[in-house]
Amino acid sequence: MIRKYIYGTPIETDAVIEQIPPEIGKPDHLTFETDKDGKHVYSCTLADDDIVYGLGEAPRGINKRGHIYESFNSDDPYHTEEKRSLYGSHNFIIVDGDVCFGAFFDCGAPVTFDIGYTEHDRLTVTLSENNYVLYIIEGDSSYEIVREFRRIIGKSYIAPEWAFGFQQSRWSYYTADDVRKVVAGYRDAGIPLDAVYLDIDYMEDYKDFTVSSERFPDFEAFVSEMKDMGIHLVPIIDAGVKIEDGYDIYEEGKEKGYFCKRPDGSDFVAAVWPGRTHFPDFLNSDARKWFGDKYKVLLDAGIDGFWNDMNEPAMFYTDEGVDEIIEYVKNFDFGCNSASKYFELSGKFTGLANRRKDYSNIRHNINGEFVSHDRVHNLFGYMMTRAAAEGFKRLAPDKEILIFSRSSYIGMHRYGGIWTGDNQSWWSHILLNIKMMPSLNMCGFIYSGADLGGFGANCTRDLLLRWLAFGIFTPLMRDHSALGTRNQECYSMGDIKAFKGIIKLRYRLLPYLYQSYLDACNNNDMMIKPLAFGYPDDRQARHIEDQLLVGDSIMITPVYEQNAVGRYVYLPEEMRLLIFKDADVNRTEVLPKGVHYIDVALDEVPIFIRKDKELPLCAPAQCTAKLNREINDIFC
Ligand code: GLC
Repeated sequence: MIRKYIYGTPIETDAVIEQIPPEIGKPDHLTFETDKDGKHVYSCTLADDDIVYGLGEAPRGINKRGHIYESFNSDDPYHTEEKRSLYGSHNFIIVDGDVCFGAFFDCGAPVTFDIGYTEHDRLTVTLSENNYVLYIIEGDSSYEIVREFRRIIGKSYIAPEWAFGFQQSRWSYYTADDVRKVVAGYRDAGIPLDAVYLDIDYMEDYKDFTVSSERFPDFEAFVSEMKDMGIHLVPIIDAGVKIEDGYDIYEEGKEKGYFCKRPDGSDFVAAVWPGRTHFPDFLNSDARKWFGDKYKVLLDAGIDGFWNDMNEPAMFYTDEGVDEIIEYVKNFDFGCNSASKYFELSGKFTGLANRRKDYSNIRHNINGEFVSHDRVHNLFGYMMTRAAAEGFKRLAPDKEILIFSRSSYIGMHRYGGIWTGDNQSWWSHILLNIKMMPSLNMCGFIYSGADLGGFGANCTRDLLLRWLAFGIFTPLMRDHSALGTRNQECYSMGDIKAFKGIIKLRYRLLPYLYQSYLDACNNNDMMIKPLAFGYPDDRQARHIEDQLLVGDSIMITPVYEQNAVGRYVYLPEEMRLLIFKDADVNRTEVLPKGVHYIDVALDEVPIFIRKDKELPLCAPAQCTAKLNREINDIFC
């Protein structure tokens, strides 16, 4: 049962595609109030054992209790526990207690979810603007509520099968020869690989839809050379368009009035990688169409995969911000001995990027209306990716194209996937990755994954192995790392045998994983679920967050702690344990319901088969193009 409540005059987000007649009156389950600032606030009490699910891309656990989250798409590379916002805003929550209900706050402006932070037994949701739509979803269980919710937001984007192959990225492989070396590194080592990413340096001066002719002479021939080797090249597209006379995208966008504006009607300017840029107004459907058509030049060159980045939108600084700092520094009393002044000074510089004040200065043209960015901030990345996906439909209707985005909002799940942004080579970030996957699935983002091995900081061999051993179960399986960090390709991490075994296992699992993925997309279901969703009557399973169900047949129990040689697992029923090594079963046993300690060496991957279920495997291959999908092993 779904009820819809409309408040004020909301800006259409297109998150929900099912026509639902609106209700008059107050929603059930939540108490409605208006706070002293006139903001709408919803709340309810939480019993000790209640779980609050949802919020998709957010820090902390599967159960979101105990923290405060703000939906405000943010470019922040430090995904630490105290953070309230990451790159996506997924305003769907479920309160799972004696009564179960879901709530979706469909609003492009910031929304705050205080989930037992201020008061441990209270959930409080505060909207920053009073024009929005609220959906209340009832069902017998959280799992059922998820499926109901997913039905009204429409089917998730389906990525091509090759996008389930292993993918290697780095900021940056600068030249065609650098890419060739990566491919040779993998092929020579016998480690499967399906894609290599082109980060910002493939472009001419970071200009979207250009390719450096110096670093990639004859790009088209290079794309096809790679394709012949079973490698897809995946270029990045950034939200900011470089301001440069003679650059066609800039000139066209300016002439047609397709860039975001300032309140005075001039084009809004912010600095990103190319220096000063304008942001295409993705909230404007004409601008969206225009930008979407620009992908043609790369599609024509044979490209069939893209990642859309910096689309919160990320801003390094604005002229206004820099001018304010200059003024501040000029008047700064350098003789002062106040600690707070010192922090204020350094904060001025670190606070130059992504200032709320700058965002507030952006204006959009939405169906002819001049709309403040504050009302639609969280829709920007979504609409960029929608522009791309709609462009692909027009330009290459028969082609299956990989597209995923950094920033997102519910609704975008129909157009593309997401990756979870700039994590770090930290052990805690494997766990964050594990806990985030089911929450993303609840919100429709099935094609997703983290930067395996970690983006920032230097990765170590053991960290990468453990992370990959989890990553083989996530739809997007991509190793990516930041400029200035140690090389993180599997062949550059010492003895390659263990990497080879783990990645080959991914390919052996591919028929099972891809089918589970398709089933989840086509049936509005989850591919990766918390244990509680599979075993709703099991009290212990209800609170386990580091074991997950993948597809219908298996439970995974990744090792995510440094120096661990195994881990404790909880089995909600009798299950068969398979320990894989070198992509084959090395040990197997049937374990009864209960707690067990299992040994898992660095080169091993544990998989549990659920009772009365089967796990089919095919033979591994160097890339999906060479994969023989015929099943050559079935475990049960
Ligand atoms: C952003 C992206 C990252 C990329 C970098 C350079 O930080 O999140 O993945 O490598 O920009 O383009």
